[in-house]
Amino acid sequence: MPIRMETGIAACGQVGYHRGNIFKNLRRMRFLMTSQDAVAEIGLIGLGTMGGNLALNIAEHGFQIAVFNRTTEKTDQFMVKAGELADKLVPTKTLEAFVASLKTPRAVILMVSAGDAVDAQIDALRSLLDPQDLIIDAGNANYHDTNRRAAEAAEKGPRFMGIGVSGGEEGARFGPSIMGGGAKDVWGQVGHILEAISAKYEGEPCAAWLGEAGAGHLVKTVHNGIEYADMQMIAEVYGVMRDGFAMSAEEIGKVFEKWNGGILQSYLIEISGKVAGMADPDSGKPMLDIILDRAGQKGTGRWTAIEGLMLGTPASAIEAAVAVRNMSSRLDERKAGEAEFGPAPRKMDREAASVDALEAALVAGKIVCYAQGFGLILEAAKQYGWAMPLPEIARIWRNGCIIRSAMLNDMSSALADNAERNLMLAPFFSAKLKETEASLRQVVAQAALNGLPVPALSAALSYFDIMRTARSTANMLQGQRDFFGAHGFERTDKDGGGFHGPWAMG
Ligand SMILES: NC(=O)c1ccc[n+]([C@@H]2O[C@H](COP(=O)([O-])OP(=O)(O)OC[C@H]3O[C@@H](n4cnc5c(N)ncnc54)[C@H](OP(=O)(O)O)[C@@H]3O)[C@@H](O)[C@H]2O)c1
Repeated sequence: MPIRMETGIAACGQVGYHRGNIFKNLRRMRFLMTSQDAVAEIGLIGLGTMGGNLALNIAEHGFQIAVFNRTTEKTDQFMVKAGELADKLVPTKTLEAFVASLKTPRAVILMVSAGDAVDAQIDALRSLLDPQDLIIDAGNANYHDTNRRAAEAAEKGPRFMGIGVSGGEEGARFGPSIMGGGAKDVWGQVGHILEAISAKYEGEPCAAWLGEAGAGHLVKTVHNGIEYADMQMIAEVYGVMRDGFAMSAEEIGKVFEKWNGGILQSYLIEISGKVAGMADPDSGKPMLDIILDRAGQKGTGRWTAIEGLMLGTPASAIEAAVAVRNMSSRLDERKAGEAEFGPAPRKMDREAASVDALEAALVAGKIVCYAQGFGLILEAAKQYGWAMPLPEIARIWRNGCIIRSAMLNDMSSALADNAERNLMLAPFFSAKLKETEASLRQVVAQAALNGLPVPALSAALSYFDIMRTARSTANMLQGQRDFFGAHGFERTDKDGGGFHGPWAMG
């Protein structure tokens, strides 16, 4: 039950003779003394990297915000960092004081580590909040957890939303992309705040309600999966330039910089140029030459690949990107492999695949990767019965998030025209694929001939080739399945299924 505002006198009057009651009321008194002004329009728990920056962003947009952090010193440090924004912040040291400082119906953003911490925090808040209050999990939750939490909230209250927030530390501070999930009317309670603090694209907020229950977190997961594939493809063309063309990091940086002025304009191409162009202050060497080639991951790319498999929708470019991160961590095994088999030639004929061809290959790979990502979201929307407006998703990814790019504007238009169609078949993108497909094929073929691994680009090419092949080779799979398991097959010349081959006669 929520603790209600009462006068100090009334609370004093409740102090009884029993020791237990005295302590109970002292606790209550202390709480009441800190709860006289419910001034904050919203509250945030978890003042880590993302939470602290998000709170400052909310304050900067003029909203009074209460904050709470498990470790109290972090709240004190945060208030010092807040500077002039401190006026808009209500720091609290107990959950009770935090809740009491919120206007009703209360809205609480959780920005704590994903997983058990979220459940623990919800449990702690449940007894302090009213059923019509709202808890918003803004961390990188697995959307299955969000589905479960939404179902628990429907049963036990308070109301619940799961939102995906992208853009890292800087996005949180100055404008992230916000992918909202939960009941639509609940978005109405806080949508104006989330839209105000989000990034803007030509004045439009990059924040929207996308669907029920775990929809927002699923979209964030797929965003991150696409991010993995986009980054991996950039790393692959970097590898071709570095090893195949023997270009210096600085030269490669200039290529990315140039590409960023064209169709590939995007945050990831921009930062790749900066990363390639930067020198290490200690050694003077290019940063890229001293960064160890072992990539970390926090799991959202893997979740996307798993979801693709579970939902039965192809996400092969994303799966390849996840697999490469896993392989990158096997440094000793890779060294042993090179010792055993010798290094691949890794030289490429610039006549056979030029820097321009790499740019075109990236364009084709990127279109395929997004076609897979949007296909996955579409399938989830169908299976869960969620709204998931695809053009809206592309629209709110145009700024604030890590995968923001010029191409997303065209994707939003293509999906508005027809959200059910494979993005590759939208006229704008099919024309682009027709222009760039040969380069993708050339780059992948030359890379394979010279031992330069390009798994995400290869996966994209294979997907493209399969999706433009009306008669595939799955007839052989069906024949094999029927041979060993009597699984049955459909025929090209008759309606219906359940046909069997004459295998016993063979
Ligand atoms: N970093 C990014 O670029 C990024 C981008 C998008 C989304 N996210 C997601 O945002 C969420 C927060 O990430 P972050 O980078 O801000 O993490 P962080 O800097 O490590 O901060 C974690 C916060 O969670 C709190 N916390 C951890 N366990 C807790 C528990 N059991 N009970 C209560 N509070 C607990 C910590 O409190 P203490 O100070 O007491 O430890 C701290 O305030 C995660 O879900 C993350 O995946 C991160």
